[in-house]
Amino acid sequence: MPIKPQSQNGDIHVPTHVAIIMDGNGRWASARGLPRTEGHRQGAESVRAVIKAASRAGVEYLTLFGFSSENWKRPSGEVMDLMGLLRLYLRKELAELHKQGVRFRVIGERSRLAPDIQALIEAAENRTRDNVGLTLVLALSYGGRAEIANTARALAEKVQNGELLPSDIDENLFASSLETADIPDPDLLIRTSGEQRISNFLLWQTAYTEFVFTDTLWPDFRADEFEAALSAFRSRDRRYGAVGV
Ligand code: IPE
Ligand code: IPE
Ligand code: MG
Repeated sequence: MPIKPQSQNGDIHVPTHVAIIMDGNGRWASARGLPRTEGHRQGAESVRAVIKAASRAGVEYLTLFGFSSENWKRPSGEVMDLMGLLRLYLRKELAELHKQGVRFRVIGERSRLAPDIQALIEAAENRTRDNVGLTLVLALSYGGRAEIANTARALAEKVQNGELLPSDIDENLFASSLETADIPDPDLLIRTSGEQRISNFLLWQTAYTEFVFTDTLWPDFRADEFEAALSAFRSRDRRYGAVGV
C-alpha cells in the first residue's frame, strides 16, 4: 500500500489528524507542591481548550493519549484518581462535546476499564455517532504493541478458520483490521513535557507522522501552543521516502 498524504480537508497545510501525548501533569503539580492529581485535573482544562482549537483550525481527527497500557503500573491511588477524573469527564463534558458536533470514539483495551466507565463510553459513542464535526479519539488503556499483537491474533484465527489465506495479509488488510481502521494515520504528533519518545502510542499509524516536541507541561498547553505546533507542521516537507519537490 503506498503511503499517501491524507488531506481530507483539502488543505495539506492543515493536518487532517493530530495525535497528542499529553504528558507532564505530575511534574506540573510537583513544581507547585500539589498532589499529582491536581495536575491531572488541570490537564482536563487543556483538553477542553485543545478540542476547541482543533475544531477551529479545521483538524478533522484529534487523538488524545489519556491512559496507556503501562499506566496500570502506577500506584493504585493514582490510577483510581485518573479513573475518577475520566468518569467525571465523560459525565460532564459529553453534552458540551455533542453541542459542538464532536464525534467521540475510544481506542484501547476498554474491557480493562470499570464496567460503569465502559457503559459511559458506549453511551457517548452512540450519542455522538452521527455528528459531523471533529472526531475526538480518546486512547484509554491503549498500547500500540498490544493493538498490533491483537490484530495479528485475529487475522491468524481467520486463517485457521479458512476465512483468509496467509497471502491475503498485506499492509492494507492489516491496517484495516486495526482498531483505527476507519481513521486516517496521524499527520502530526505532539508530545508535551520535554520527553522525546513514543511510549507505545500509535506505533503502526505513525510511520510517516511529523513529530513536534515541546517542553510545555500538559496543564499549561493551551490554544496558542496548539497553533504553534500547527505552524511548525506547515513548514515540514513530507517526502514519504520519495524525492522532495
Ligand atoms: C500525563 O502526565 C498523564 C498520564 C500519563 C495519565 P503524567 O502523569 O505522566 O505526568 P509526569 O510525566 O509524571 O509529569
Ligand atoms: C504516556 O506518558 C502516556 C500518556 C500520556 C497517557 P507516560 O508518562 O506514561 O510515559 P513515560 O512513562 O514517560 O514514557
Ligand atoms: Mg509522564
